[in-house]
Amino acid sequence: MRRMVAEHRLHPAQLILPVFVRDGIGEPVPVSSMPGVVQHTRETLKKAAHEAVRAGVGGFMIYGVPKEEDKDAVGSAGTDPDGILQVALRDVRAEVGDDIVIMSDLCLDETTDHGHCGVLDAEGRVDNDATLERYAEMACVQAEAGAHVLGPSGMMDGQIGFVRRALDEAGHRDVSLFAYTAKYASAFYGPFREAVGSSLKGDRKTYQQDPANAREALRELSLDAAEGADMVMVKPGLPYLDVLRDFAERAEVPVGVYQISGEYAMVEAAAQNGWIDRDRAIMETLTSFKRAGANLILTYWATEAAGRL
Ligand code: PBG
Repeated sequence: MRRMVAEHRLHPAQLILPVFVRDGIGEPVPVSSMPGVVQHTRETLKKAAHEAVRAGVGGFMIYGVPKEEDKDAVGSAGTDPDGILQVALRDVRAEVGDDIVIMSDLCLDETTDHGHCGVLDAEGRVDNDATLERYAEMACVQAEAGAHVLGPSGMMDGQIGFVRRALDEAGHRDVSLFAYTAKYASAFYGPFREAVGSSLKGDRKTYQQDPANAREALRELSLDAAEGADMVMVKPGLPYLDVLRDFAERAEVPVGVYQISGEYAMVEAAAQNGWIDRDRAIMETLTSFKRAGANLILTYWATEAAGRL
C-alpha cells in the first residue's frame, strides 16, 4: 500500500555519481573522511563507470586531481589536453559514452596551487573576469575530450553566458551546461577538499553564497537562466531544502541538488558508530530531495542507491 500511494519516487536515471580520478597513482587511494570513496586510477575509474551504467545511474560527474607539482597559479592542468581530467573524459567517453551522461567539473580549484576557484589579481583576490577567460578555454578542452555536460562550479559572475558563447563559437553547440547556481560557502565541503587534495587556505566567501541568504539564490537563478543554463543546481542539499523548493517552483529547466561530501560523511560516520541505520538514512535523505522538488541528485551513493532501487 505504501508503495502504491507514495507521492515521490526515486529513479536510478535521476542519480548522478561524482567521482575523483587522480594523476600518477598505481592503486586507488581511499579518501579517509569519506569511507567507501576513493581517488580512482584511470583503470578503476573505467570500472566505476561500468558499474554505474549497470546500476542504471543517469550521470557520471568527474573531478580530476592533478599531481601536486602540476599545480600552478592559473591552473594550467585544467586546460592541458593531456591533463588528468581530459584524459579521463576520453577514457570514459570511449567506454560508456552511449550509456550514461558524462559530466565534468568546470572549475580551477583542483588545479591551482592556491586552491581558489579562480585566478588571483595582484592583491591576491579572485579576479572574476580573468577567471572567465580560463573557464572558456577549459570548457572547450573538456568538450573536445568528450564531456556531454559541463558543470561550472566556481560561482564567478557571468560564467554561464561566457562559457556558453565560447562553446558555441567553437562549434560545441550540443554540449550542455549544468550550472552550480546556488552554491553556498559551506562547512560541509571539508571531506571533498581532502578528496581533491585541495591547496586552499582561507575561504570562498567572496564568491560563494552566504548561508543566511535565500533571496540571493533566486537572483542567481534568474541570471543563470538568462545566460543559457540547461540545468540548475542547489548545493549543499540537506541544509538548503528550502532553496531547492524555491528553485523547483520557479525554474523552467531541470533542477538538481548536490548531496555533498560532508553530508555523506555525517551519515557514514554515524553509521560506523552504530548510531543510525545507514541504509534507511541514505534513502531517506535522497527521498527528501525528491519531496523538495529535485529532478536530479548528485550523490556519492548513486551506484549503491540505484542498485537498491
Ligand atoms: C569546487 C567544488 C567543490 C565541491 C564541488 N566542486 C568544493 C568547494 O567549493 O570547495 C564540493 C563537493 C562536495 O563537497 O562533495 N570546484
